[in-house]
Amino acid sequence: MGRLPFIAGNWKMNKTVEEAIDLVKGLKVHLKGIEDVEVAIAPPFTALYPVAQELKGSSIHLASQNLFWEGKGAFTGEISPAMLKEINCRYAIIGHSERRQYFGETDETANRRIKAAFNHGLKVIFCIGETLQEREGGIAFSVIERQLEGGLKELGEKAVEEMVVAYEPVWAIGTGKTATPEQAEEVHQFIRQKLERLYSKRISEGIRIQYGGSVTPENIKGLMVQANIDGALVGGASLNAESFSRIVRFKEM
Ligand code: 13P
Repeated sequence: MGRLPFIAGNWKMNKTVEEAIDLVKGLKVHLKGIEDVEVAIAPPFTALYPVAQELKGSSIHLASQNLFWEGKGAFTGEISPAMLKEINCRYAIIGHSERRQYFGETDETANRRIKAAFNHGLKVIFCIGETLQEREGGIAFSVIERQLEGGLKELGEKAVEEMVVAYEPVWAIGTGKTATPEQAEEVHQFIRQKLERLYSKRISEGIRIQYGGSVTPENIKGLMVQANIDGALVGGASLNAESFSRIVRFKEM
């Protein structure tokens, strides 16, 4: 089938401009010649433009950590899709669990952001995942199903075709507690089947599903050998050029 593996680094609220440029310089050296894995990084908003300049001529793609659905206007503190397009952002991370947990993001607001991103030619990394309480309560799958239905509401095949889904179990984020490859694979398979029911086999087989949550150079390989895991959305381990590059180079291990 050949889904191109996709490793993305979500820097969250880390790195000043100076630190960001340093990290990118390191990544360019460590990742030189990488072609069989797609790579993207999502610096904080203040570093996006300088990082975009630094990435010119490199195959590393730029992603934003969020965006707002309106085109422009009186929305203090927000960033529009056109502003991101202008500086060569290719992806936008949408619906991250930290946005849901701390900033009131819902399936509905994620849906509005996804539509806006699509309308402006940005590709989306759409994050979903259950909390520990939901997993222990036995409702992980119904939560995932609700997040997919809500986030993808009224989106046609064209919009989801190039979307990336990131399964990030909230209990595995920043905790050092990774889902086992089998636990992750079970949910990834469920997500793919749900996408087939919502769209078609062609869509579900083409779409890339990343795993996120305490991914490290040590555990990436075990995750990537699973049939339905097509990449990773990396937090902590993406803040260092060496560890992130080792994750990207998982095939060499
Ligand atoms: P960690 O890799 O730090 O657990 O973060 C995962 C994540 O939230 C990526 O979006």
